[in-house]
Parts: sequence; C-alpha cells; structure tokens
Amino acid sequence: MENVLVTGGLGFIGSHTVVELIAQGYKVFIADNLSNSKIEVLDRIEKITKVKPEFFNIDLTDKEKLFNLFSTYNLDSIIHFAASKAVGESVQKPLLYYKNNLSSLINVLECCRELKVNNLIFSSSCTVYGQPDKLPVTEKTPKQQAESPYGNTKQVGEEIIEDYCNSNVDFKAISLRYFNPIGAHDSALIGELPLGIPNNLIPFITQTASGIREKLNVFGGDYDTPDGTCIRDYIHVVDLAKAHIAALKHANSSKVNYDFFNVGTGKGHSVLEVIQTFEAQSGMKLNYEIVERRPGDVEKIYADTTKMNQELGWSAEKDLNDMISSAWKWQKSLIKS
Ligand code: WQD
Repeated sequence: MENVLVTGGLGFIGSHTVVELIAQGYKVFIADNLSNSKIEVLDRIEKITKVKPEFFNIDLTDKEKLFNLFSTYNLDSIIHFAASKAVGESVQKPLLYYKNNLSSLINVLECCRELKVNNLIFSSSCTVYGQPDKLPVTEKTPKQQAESPYGNTKQVGEEIIEDYCNSNVDFKAISLRYFNPIGAHDSALIGELPLGIPNNLIPFITQTASGIREKLNVFGGDYDTPDGTCIRDYIHVVDLAKAHIAALKHANSSKVNYDFFNVGTGKGHSVLEVIQTFEAQSGMKLNYEIVERRPGDVEKIYADTTKMNQELGWSAEKDLNDMISSAWKWQKSLIKS
C-alpha cells in the first residue's frame, strides 16, 4: 500500500482528494494547520470512506515538525495543497503569502531530499496564464505576469520545483494547473467551507440563496463576451480530486521528471450562465445585481485539456448542472447542521 502525505488535506480540494485516494487503496497521512479548514472534516472523511487517516496538526513553515513526520512514516509520495489562496488578501498581505506559500514548499522539498521521497504533486493554478491572448489555453500558452502575489507564489512555486527536478533526476514532480474548482461530494458531507465572506462565485451564490447574504454582486456586465459577464472553466471538485490520482499513477511511468497539466473541463461558462443554471437546479430566483468590474479579474479563460486527456487518461466527467446541484445540496446541509 502506497503511503501518501496530503498537505492541506482537510481543505476543500484536499479533503475530496483524500476521499479518492482512500477509495483507490492508498494509505493517507494528512498535515494541516487548520488555518483555513475545520477538524470536523476528518470525521466526515471517515464517515464517507470508513477509514480515519492519520492527522497531524502541523504548520509546514515549522521544518522540524515536518521533518519528524517524514522520518516517522515511510512516505512514497506527497500531494502538496497547503497554501494561503485568497487572491484579494494576497494583494493586501504579500509578505505573508510569500513567506507561507514558498517556505512551506521549500520545507517539503528539503524533507523529500533528506528522506528520499521522490514523488510530488503540486497544486498550481490557471492564474499562471493571466489573461491569455488565445483561447483555449494549452500548456504551451506562455505564462504571464501574475495578477496577484498569490498567483506569483504559484508561478515561483512551479519554478522552484522544476529547478529542483533538474538538480535531482530521481525526483519526479507534476504541477496541476487548476481552473475553477466548485461543487461538493455527493454525500454532502464535505464541500467548500469559506471562512467569512466568500471571495468566490459559487459559495456567494449558495449563501445568497440561503439568506446568509443579501444579494450577489455580479462584477462587470460589459466584458467582450456573449452576455457581457466573465467566462471561466468550472470543474467539479471530485473530477479534480481524481486528476490527482491519475497524476500520482503517471509520475512513476513518466519519461520526464517534471511536467505540468491543465486541469479543467475545456468548456467556458459565464457568470450569468452559472446563475441561470443555479436557478434551474434550485427552482429559486437569485437576487443579484450587475455592478462594476472587480480589479484583477481576467475576462475569459478556459482550458485545452488534450494533454491531460491523452497522457494521463483523465477527463472531467461532471457538467455544470452536476457541479451546481452538488454545491446547493452541500449548502443546504450546512444550514441544517
Ligand atoms: C469567478 C467569476 C468573478 C464573486 C479562482 C480562485 C483562484 C484560482 C482560479 C485556484 C469572476 C465573478 C465572483 C462574486 C462575481 N483557483 N464573481 N461575484 O476569480 O476565477 O479565481 O479560480 O488557484 O485562486 O480564486 O474565481 O469564483 O472569485 O470568480 O461576479 O461575488 O465570478 O468576477 O468573473 P476566480 P471567482
């Protein structure tokens, strides 16, 4: 049984990936400092999988604690999610983002080097592309100046990993460039748990519909898109979780020791389309108003997923209806709990 350490494993994408890893027979260890997640998620994972992964409340900037974890367990692979990820907050607090996200990554890589753990999957982001000139974006689309310190930590993180791979042929790493992860596990036992006012569209929609928020502000209705609102490639978080398993399996057979892949559906949907899908799925009318644009938003971006489909044999299976209905079912479960 392969031992996998999942950093940030109680977070939104991390917890869904832990569920899929256990389903595929991996032995999972979770390191999470609970700065953007809740310990209850561990019990929820157990409820879904009947397995309670070993959990370590560790801040990855604490190298000594991380080294102890690595040296206690014979780890085969690491999936590294743990990072601060609020785009807006990163503009206000750039040093916190560079310190947390980059020193955590470097600590993980140093432990891998010292304890000869040679497989890493890195949680990266489509934000490395900025506003692409040509759509859909492929992995050959040039990276652009990051729009935020958060996005820059992903760009620099990829470069750090690639440089380390170039210095150590035995070490294999894959960066997964996520587009817009949304939705929740079918059980509605795990899902997106934004602490405070949500930055992202979907939790804001579901909180507005459940009366927690008064109305949704749609940031911009004058973009060069069919209905004037921004377009994104939304991907179901369970599909995204499964992409990590595909990457883990591929790492052992890969010809190169560093690679990166777009993880999306290949389809773009506008904000208004998402709202219309929510209204159709929930049977509710959403209270929203189109207001001025949000600084830093790209107008439209969606993925070309050919490389992921062909080289890792992975494709997204769920559509926007599945994503939105699962997000709404999750929100309704939160109201009850
Ligand atoms: C989506 C669209 C907003 C909120 C996210 C993550 C980022 C990266 C990519 C992982 C935009 C509009 C939003 C609202 C709105 N993922 N919107 N009203 O900005 O694409 O970035 O995915 O690394 O980390 O943040 O996602 O959900 O914030 O916005 O109109 O209240 O919804 O303008 O067009 P975004 P988002």
